[in-house]
Amino acid sequence: MKDRRILVTGGAGFIGSNFVHTILESTENVSIIVVDKLTYAGNLKNLDKWKNDSRLQFIKLDITDKTEVFSKLENIPVTEIAHFAAESHVDRSILGPEEFVKTNLMGSFYMLEFARMLHAQNKLRLFLHVSTDEVFGSLSAEGAFTETTPYAPNSPYSASKAGSDHLVRAYFHTYGLPVITTNCSNNYGPFHFPEKLIPLMILNCLQGKSLPVYGTGENVRDWLYVKDHCLAIDLVMRTGKFGETYNIGTRNEKNNLEIVYKICELMDERNPKGAPHKKLIQFVKDRPGHDFRYAIDPAKIENELGWKPKYKFEEAIEQTVDWFLANRSWWEEILSGEYNKYYDSQYKELKDK
Ligand code: NAD
Ligand code: TYD
Repeated sequence: MKDRRILVTGGAGFIGSNFVHTILESTENVSIIVVDKLTYAGNLKNLDKWKNDSRLQFIKLDITDKTEVFSKLENIPVTEIAHFAAESHVDRSILGPEEFVKTNLMGSFYMLEFARMLHAQNKLRLFLHVSTDEVFGSLSAEGAFTETTPYAPNSPYSASKAGSDHLVRAYFHTYGLPVITTNCSNNYGPFHFPEKLIPLMILNCLQGKSLPVYGTGENVRDWLYVKDHCLAIDLVMRTGKFGETYNIGTRNEKNNLEIVYKICELMDERNPKGAPHKKLIQFVKDRPGHDFRYAIDPAKIENELGWKPKYKFEEAIEQTVDWFLANRSWWEEILSGEYNKYYDSQYKELKDK
């Protein structure tokens, strides 16, 4: 593909920034335009490595502001849009769903409208929409989500993502917009915002703080290393079929306690003074409407696009722990700012027994 100009919404967030790294590391002839509102979860430090690279451009922009979307982007040549921007944390969606509806639904709608305009001018090759397996709802002990599993979202977060998935589908059928949607499982890896399970446990171990496990810790997630996810998105963008959806996962189910034990074990080796870190585990009140289990069946992307993950969980989780140990200033800055106030007030409410 020649002269790719990829607009990455949410490119300063966890997965979006990893995607920018993946593309810039592997592709010479590409331009990336990151658009991001820089909410609490967006951080330009995630892109520091490329700050002097002429292939990367940053535009601060709120996708819920239609005027801003059209005026700031109208003169920027774009051939593909990779849409990552979203409010992404389930707990926050329980405490305050409005931002989720605004960004995930209305923001996605405006990005689709912008894409429709580009497409009408024959400028756009693809609108790639990044979604979640949480749109499919909760599984019991058996089975896995396929691309044809009916939607049954249970949290305000997953409902707002489901709504955006439906809009993307409608733009393909109604306007012929070249769209593809990916639905992936829980990611982990570098630049993961500290409120999510894996980074929270690593950082709380390091600080000797309690490790809050919701309910009994038996809920299951299907953990996907973010670098594998970004390689899969890259593959889908280059070879996927318009109008299709692809599930992305690595058949790596673990219950939350297994994850917390694993992190404690790795931290015991790296921080023997704090061992055994398991003593910090505290069972707290369960999340309202907590989905029991997610599991992805990735057969379609494997069989149709030849996708295979590159990383094994055992190595990737170690690399993740080591990334947080090696990048102390990155997370210390987050913990000393706005996020800390949030964690200490509203957020803690959710975790108290
Ligand atoms: P994140 O919260 O780390 O990053 C989201 C980014 O979007 C931030 O940089 C934020 O500033 C930006 N953003 C938020 N609202 C915006 C707005 N109104 N305008 C412009 N930018 C805005 O999220 P993430 O974990 O990187 O998730 C990226 C995408 O992947 C999301 O669409 C999410 O639903 C999806 N997803 C995430 C996971 C996961 O495990 N993290 C799993 C499945 C799907
Ligand atoms: P999370 O990282 O919030 O992702 P999601 O809710 O999108 O799956 O949570 C992953 C799992 O970990 C989920 O079952 C909730 C649980 N959890 C805890 O037990 N304690 C915590 O402090 C957090 C943040 C999550």
